[in-house]
Amino acid sequence: MEHGTKAESYRIKMVEPLRSTTRKERSQYIETAGYNPFLLSSQDVYVDLLTDSGTGAMSDGQWSALMQGDEAYAGSRSFARFEQTVQEIMGFDYVLPTHQGRGAENILFTIYLEQGKTVPNNTHFDTTKAHVLHKGGRALDLPNPDVLRTQEVSPFKGNMDLTRLRQVLEESPPGAIPLIMMTLTNNSVGGQPVSMANLRATRQLADEFGLPLVIDACRFAENAYFIKHREAGYEDRSIRHIVREMMSYAHACTMSGKKDALVNIGGFLATSDRSLYEKAQTWAVLFEGFPTYGGLAGRDLEAMAQGLQEVVKEEYLADRVGQVAYLARVLRQAGAPIVEPPGGHAVYIDAGRWLGHLRPDEFPGWSLSVALYVEGGVRSVEIGTVLAGRHPHTQHHDHPALELLRLAVPRRVYTHRHLEAVGHTVAKVGEQLAHLPGMRFTYEPPVLRHFTARFAPLGPWPG
Ligand code: F0G
Repeated sequence: MEHGTKAESYRIKMVEPLRSTTRKERSQYIETAGYNPFLLSSQDVYVDLLTDSGTGAMSDGQWSALMQGDEAYAGSRSFARFEQTVQEIMGFDYVLPTHQGRGAENILFTIYLEQGKTVPNNTHFDTTKAHVLHKGGRALDLPNPDVLRTQEVSPFKGNMDLTRLRQVLEESPPGAIPLIMMTLTNNSVGGQPVSMANLRATRQLADEFGLPLVIDACRFAENAYFIKHREAGYEDRSIRHIVREMMSYAHACTMSGKKDALVNIGGFLATSDRSLYEKAQTWAVLFEGFPTYGGLAGRDLEAMAQGLQEVVKEEYLADRVGQVAYLARVLRQAGAPIVEPPGGHAVYIDAGRWLGHLRPDEFPGWSLSVALYVEGGVRSVEIGTVLAGRHPHTQHHDHPALELLRLAVPRRVYTHRHLEAVGHTVAKVGEQLAHLPGMRFTYEPPVLRHFTARFAPLGPWPG
């Protein structure tokens, strides 16, 4: 469908050498890292699919824009260019830069959240959930029930479950829900897109109950590309047009520039609501910096403005989504059960299914991530029980419906041959599956535990 047959629409001007390591060395490195891939040194990783966040390659246009950075504390020219770009592409009137997406989330939830309030979301990303919990709120995930059928292809698995959303809104006492959030694309359920129809209907529900709808816009351009290629009525619309319509349903958006603004650091909060903007501005000064720099250098704002112009180009998105689809093909050939269809930024292996001999509290996704590193130096990330953390009241593991392993593809960084190497690694791990041991914590931090936790395998490692 959206797999382009043409080669990349760019060529490579600068390269970064990769170091090769032996299986024996990698076994040592991962043991030293407490079996936590986050604690590895990146020089010991061959293909780094840990995240697509801030790991992309900037274009020559972005690198030259960096040189134009105006580093004035206030009223920087680079801010003006950045602001105009967000206004033009997304249609919001007011734009506040932040150091990254979670900076914008912090401002948003400081304004809207109080102890005991509930935030419904098609599915919270972990930092968003952590911010809600930090303010004493409840993060309620309302994913499309289709996501549980990982092997079935369905075009908009990222959608909000509107039936449940209506039910929650009707049953909640007035004031209990301060806002509704929608995450584009829906990262935690497989990078799956949300349809325009679902977004529009969510906005209608928000209006019916007098609530603001806030879009977590990290991967807005990838979402727009899926709408163009999968939703009737949008095939002849430009990506820019689709993005404007998507954003027209939101009162505000939080954005991590590290994804679809094609930069290594940056983010923003945008809205057309003057009073929200004024409140946000006050908190922005406290948390991030003066409103025309927001925790960033002027040059970062230049790079983000240029990145936003590039990300809405069809050719860029065809390469991007096409490359992720290619990785999906390679993984299917290697025998891994992947979440179908593949997402916009990553392919997810259904680790719960593939490592069926391990229980969720033996962390099958985590075990698989260790195996891919040991076998081929491939770094990936568990999106399962370890990431989900503990339930705030019961303190039991907050088991998600699926135990997934995410292989996120950095933008414009790896070639198809790197992805084929990942396929070989996955195939080799597939031969040892039944012998892969589960994992247990040896150190478990209380918040966002996956980043710094340490583990030990529950049995000997194969080979
Ligand atoms: N929302 C979503 C959907 C995200 O995927 C992320 C980050 C954020 C918010 C926070 O943005 O990192 O700039 O503060 N996701 C990265 C990932 C870390 O690996 O998926 P940030």
